[in-house]
Amino acid sequence: MKLSTPKRVGASKGFSAQMDDKKKLVLVLIAIVTSGGIVLLLSVLQQHALSDLMTNLSPIPSAGGPGSLYIPPEDPPNWSNFSNIYVPPGASYTDTLFTLLKLNGSIPCHNQSTNFTKLHGLPKPRKGKVSLQYNTKYSLDLVAYTEEGKRRCSGGDYFEVDLHSDNFRSRPPTVDYGNGTYGVELEVPGSWAGVFTLEVSLLFSNWHGMDQVELAINETFCVKEVMMTKELHVVLNETGVLDSVQQIPNMNRCTKEDFYRPHWSGRWTRGWFDENCKPDKEKRYRCLPPEHSSCEEPWCFGPLYRLESNGWSYSAHCSFKLFERDEAWECLNNRWIVIWGDSNFQDTIRNLLLFILDWQLPSNQNLAEFQLERKYEKFFINPYRPDQSFQVSMIFNGHHLHWDNGEGLRTLNYQEHTDWITMHFNGTKAPDTLIMNSGLHDGYHEIDAFIEEADKAVEWWLGLYKQIPDDRKPQLLWRTTVAPAGLSRSMPGNPQKMESYNHIMMEKLKAVRHEMPVKFVDSFDMTFPFHYTNEFSDGGHYGRAPGTPLKPWYRSPHWYFVDIMLAHIWLNALCPPNV
Ligand SMILES: *[C@@H]1O[C@H](CO)[C@@H](O)[C@H](O)[C@H]1NC(C)=O
Ligand SMILES: *[C@@H]1O[C@H](CO)[C@@H](O)[C@H](O)[C@H]1NC(C)=O
Ligand SMILES: *[C@@H]1O[C@H](CO)[C@@H](O)[C@H](O)[C@H]1NC(C)=O
Ligand SMILES: *[C@@H]1O[C@H](CO)[C@@H](O)[C@H](O)[C@H]1NC(C)=O
Ligand SMILES: *[C@@H]1O[C@H](CO)[C@@H](O)[C@H](O)[C@H]1NC(C)=O
Ligand SMILES: *[C@@H]1O[C@H](CO)[C@@H](O)[C@H](O)[C@H]1NC(C)=O
Ligand SMILES: *[C@@H]1O[C@H](CO)[C@@H](O)[C@H](O)[C@H]1NC(C)=O
Ligand SMILES: *[C@@H]1O[C@H](CO)[C@@H](O)[C@H](O)[C@H]1NC(C)=O
Ligand SMILES: *[C@@H]1O[C@H](CO)[C@@H](O)[C@H](O)[C@H]1NC(C)=O
Repeated sequence: MKLSTPKRVGASKGFSAQMDDKKKLVLVLIAIVTSGGIVLLLSVLQQHALSDLMTNLSPIPSAGGPGSLYIPPEDPPNWSNFSNIYVPPGASYTDTLFTLLKLNGSIPCHNQSTNFTKLHGLPKPRKGKVSLQYNTKYSLDLVAYTEEGKRRCSGGDYFEVDLHSDNFRSRPPTVDYGNGTYGVELEVPGSWAGVFTLEVSLLFSNWHGMDQVELAINETFCVKEVMMTKELHVVLNETGVLDSVQQIPNMNRCTKEDFYRPHWSGRWTRGWFDENCKPDKEKRYRCLPPEHSSCEEPWCFGPLYRLESNGWSYSAHCSFKLFERDEAWECLNNRWIVIWGDSNFQDTIRNLLLFILDWQLPSNQNLAEFQLERKYEKFFINPYRPDQSFQVSMIFNGHHLHWDNGEGLRTLNYQEHTDWITMHFNGTKAPDTLIMNSGLHDGYHEIDAFIEEADKAVEWWLGLYKQIPDDRKPQLLWRTTVAPAGLSRSMPGNPQKMESYNHIMMEKLKAVRHEMPVKFVDSFDMTFPFHYTNEFSDGGHYGRAPGTPLKPWYRSPHWYFVDIMLAHIWLNALCPPNV
């Protein structure tokens, strides 16, 4: 049942010309994608136990899988620009942040708070309109002022910068220079030219997102106020209208190397969408008709309709394939995945099963209520090809007692917990994939303690990894913590703290990458554009089931696609293209 006349919204006048050029665009892109291919080092297949029985059916594990110690490339340049504070070249993020926090309160400069902001660096408005060029980086300065109108002279404010249009949503990189000025970088690819809103909110002033460790819904220091809203017109000039190639940056499907980049700065985009998309009986958003069911390349590849996102998909420094059911089973077949993470992983695995693999729910279960446990050992079998299966060991790290909360990394201080992990690697057969995260439960701990736990955690995992024989070393994936949303923006695990803790953990993992190569998936960047309200998550979970009886929705509809996209990104990381 179609509810409306869908249309493509949010396009500038130049868009019709771009649409005419669509075919040309596609051809050029195919050329870019194939020629830009990178030859991957295929690992020597060192077989063990189950896997060699099935080689004919299973894809060749990529490097980083069993039998190879892949050394990731040097840091991509300029990564510090994606951190929330300015880190001088060569300095450590963790030390810089720690020092800033220790110094807070030591000079009168700190004893002020931000009342309003001004933004510098935008082109002058003409006839009341601010116009920006496409594919062009704008470095803006956001300056904080006190109530008396004095320019502030220290940092610590957590500004949430949101750039969006009807078919684009992103978080422009924002850097605290520590002197009351904040750098913001804006850039819009020509294909998404149109009318944008730039909105800046102040979530916390004076580092107050970092000091909160007690659970309080209405945390006193949370400001949560919109500081400014600006309308920006990103326009296609003559060249842009005529030459569609100029409208897109170099964007290729993510290869294995792309996952060694710790910080992402991507965007959600959508082409066609149904303006009146409504949830169906199951509270699912199945709004894309067959003629618009596929991704608009190069922003994503594959069956877009399966995200149930009304057209939205996420891309970063490269873009992702959305897996068809059978391709996803091929990717996962014979794998043994160990998960070390929080309750988010219950959702992501369930979403992988139900929205990607078309796994069948047990007959006494329904979509809205089915939930995987916090701790389990399970085999999942392909209902369409019972010879295909994969195994998941879910190890909850919110607390060493899996029904409790609030520990995170410190679960590793409990021997029953570490023994449980180690046991998985001690048998005759070993896991080939380890997906990890910690963060939301670490929010209850102050930064000094967190840094100490992060050091210990990396040391512990490195110790375990080194003990695993070379031919059975698993591939490792660290997923950063989501941006806490809605009411959770003001909780102990709030965006200011989670972003900082993510950076600390990634810095420490990066430091040992020559001994333990970890791939990254930046969930924080992915979730940020959707963290302002509870429409897309309940605060910490972006993948709760449609129609869930849980709060805050109590069976009313919500969007759940951000987590389905995440599950596809895992698949991209585990099964990158073999070019
Ligand atoms: C990184 O920064 C340098 C100068 O600081 C610049 O020349 C280079 O183009 C930048 N690279 C990227 C990928 O932005
Ligand atoms: C990154 O930040 C530094 C310091 O603010 C700046 O000089 C540099 O131009 C930035 N790099 C890019 C690519 O914008
Ligand atoms: C930082 O210092 C200022 C000035 O003393 C103070 O008002 C503020 O509460 C401090 N922030 C934190 C998180 O302690
Ligand atoms: C901050 O300023 C207030 C008055 O504005 C003063 O009473 C207080 O002592 C100052 N605190 C610090 C740490 O400078
Ligand atoms: C700024 O100051 C005005 C006037 O005192 C006040 O009403 C407003 O709440 C303040 N805003 C913030 C974000 O502190
Ligand atoms: C059109 O805009 C692009 C970037 O936005 C710029 O590089 C190009 O020079 C412009 N062309 C003309 C003819 O103004
Ligand atoms: C704050 O620091 C930035 C980056 O170092 C610099 O560009 C800016 O001029 C400084 N602002 C003030 C008011 O000192
Ligand atoms: C806390 O904040 C929420 C949302 O702003 C509001 O609905 C609620 O009444 C507040 N509760 C208290 C105890 O102030
Ligand atoms: C796993 O094996 C290692 C090395 O053989 C051993 O030191 C460790 O105690 C074992 N752990 C468990 C939980 O069985």
